[in-house]
Amino acid sequence: MMHIILGDSELELIPREIQGHPAIVKYAKKRGKKPSQILLDATYHHQAIRSKYGKDAERRGRPDIVHFFLMNVQESILNATGKMRVYVHTRNNEVLRIKPETRIPKSYVRFVGLMENLFHNGVVPNSENPLITIEKMSLKELATSMGTKVIVLSKKGRRANLKNIPIPEDVTIVIGGFPHGDFLSNLDFADDIVSISESMLMAWVVAYEIIAEYERRYLF
Ligand SMILES: C[S@@+](CC[C@H](N)C(=O)[O-])C[C@H]1O[C@@H](n2cnc3c(N)ncnc32)[C@H](O)[C@@H]1O
Repeated sequence: MMHIILGDSELELIPREIQGHPAIVKYAKKRGKKPSQILLDATYHHQAIRSKYGKDAERRGRPDIVHFFLMNVQESILNATGKMRVYVHTRNNEVLRIKPETRIPKSYVRFVGLMENLFHNGVVPNSENPLITIEKMSLKELATSMGTKVIVLSKKGRRANLKNIPIPEDVTIVIGGFPHGDFLSNLDFADDIVSISESMLMAWVVAYEIIAEYERRYLF
């Protein structure tokens, strides 16, 4: 089984300290929701983000990374075989567990609505059919709970060719869900930290590369 985690991802509701920013209030009105019920999104909320978060502003509000990641991994051949479990860990130490049969909406607008419902209700679509759930948990707690070797993918890791990385059949993979900077979480739980390219890659590309490598070793 491969457990794959998008770690420290920039998925959050609009934080309290910028809920009163005029651009946020206007946006919330347009959506017919309270600012506290809306997903932070740098595309629409960059002014408010920049007004408060200084250096951190570059990375905040990126649900699009989570969307791309989930679309890729959920539709993979590996997921279809039932040999993969997918998790999204957020900057606020929440963990989303995504059931293998979950179909992620291709429309970004619908995905945002789904995530807002999840933060509001703790489960989507409902508790009778909990396809995605959310709970409080740190990256370390999640990554170590599987009892497998944990491999973190990071540009800062030891440089290795994908085909030479020791990947056991039962493994936990961690990929960063942020656009810039480094992991916020301490990675002291990692058994291996690996860089698979000289280039800085997008999280969903790294996810698919590692899934494809795992499929070649254990499926095909
Ligand atoms: C856009 S990057 C985050 C930016 C960060 N400055 C970096 O260089 O890793 C998103 C994630 O993709 C993965 N990633 C990107 N390039 C990688 C590489 N060359 N080797 C391994 N993982 C990589 C890491 O997990 C990283 O956290």
